[in-house]
Order: sequence, then structure tokens, then C-alpha cells
Amino acid sequence: MLDLDELRVCIRCDLSKSRQRVVIGSGPRRASLMVVGEAPGRDEDEGGEPFIGRSGRLLFELLHEVGVERAQCFVTNVVKCRPPANRTPKREELAACRPWLLQQLDDCAPRVVLALGNTAARAVFGYVEGVGRTHGRVCQLGDAKGLATYHPAAALRGGSSVVDVMRADLRILQQLLAPS
Ligand code: URA
Repeated sequence: MLDLDELRVCIRCDLSKSRQRVVIGSGPRRASLMVVGEAPGRDEDEGGEPFIGRSGRLLFELLHEVGVERAQCFVTNVVKCRPPANRTPKREELAACRPWLLQQLDDCAPRVVLALGNTAARAVFGYVEGVGRTHGRVCQLGDAKGLATYHPAAALRGGSSVVDVMRADLRILQQLLAPS
């Protein structure tokens, strides 16, 4: 089981020097859906919870449209500390944080894992191609199904066409979560 006390004071990489808080995750420890983003941004670094800024608002609005509420899912990031100026996490930072994510996957035992954006889709599913090619694809991740879609920040930048693709991907998510 995840050692929260250890994670809260983690110094396994240099992000520990600039972060305000380790943003561990939110939601029930065991959940049917685990949502994985890239890394905390400014709001999350201050607030201590993932996806509480603009990206999160869009994400949970889109999830609500397919019947998924935030309270039902476990939400986290591949990297638990904010990279300076929100840059993409470095390889060594991803590697240092990976054991925490693997432990969370194990603890959560989700039926479906939703990865948001390139960094998460690569880190969680091992994809080499970018999310432009892998979004909407269903893969097997242990006992869970995995699905990638765009990061909501990309949708905030890219406008309605990206939102439309996310909506289509999230309909696949809805089917994966439907009782069989
Ligand atoms: N972007 C992410 O990838 N994760 C967050 O928690 C917030 C913004």
C-alpha cells in the first residue's frame, strides 16, 4: 500500500526543490476509473489536489457529459510535483516518480485507466507514438482497460476540434465503464 507519509516528503528528484506540495491524488483509493494526467500546475501545487484549475474544470465537465463524476474516480498525475514553469517532466523525473504511480495503480485496482495527453499515455501505456495517433485506442493494462485522450490543456489551447475528439474518446470510456 502507498506510504503517504513517505510520498509527502519525497526527494527522489529535483522537483522536490521547487514544489510547494506533493500532489498525491484525490478520490476514493479504490475506484472503477483512474484518471492520470501529466503533472500538477500552479493551482494544484498551491491547492494540493490534482486538476483543480482550468484544465480540471474542462475535464470534469466532459466527464460529467458521459455520466462520470469526479467523486467516483481516483485522479492523479504521472509526476506528483510541479515542474518549474509547467515544463514537460524530464525522463529522470518520470522514472523517479514511477514507483508511486505503480503503487497507486495497484492500490486503486481500477477497471479503466484514462491517460490524458502524451506524457501520461507514454508513461502509463508505454506508447511511443503521440496521443494524436493513440487517442481512442483501448489497450490492456494488467486487469484494467486503458484509454488515452488529449490533455484538457490541449483542448483549452486547441479549441472545439480537440474538445470534439475528447468527447468521442470519452464515449468509448463510457462504454468501457458500463456494466457488462
Ligand atoms: N495538468 C495536469 O496534467 N495535471 C494536473 O493536476 C493539472 C493540470
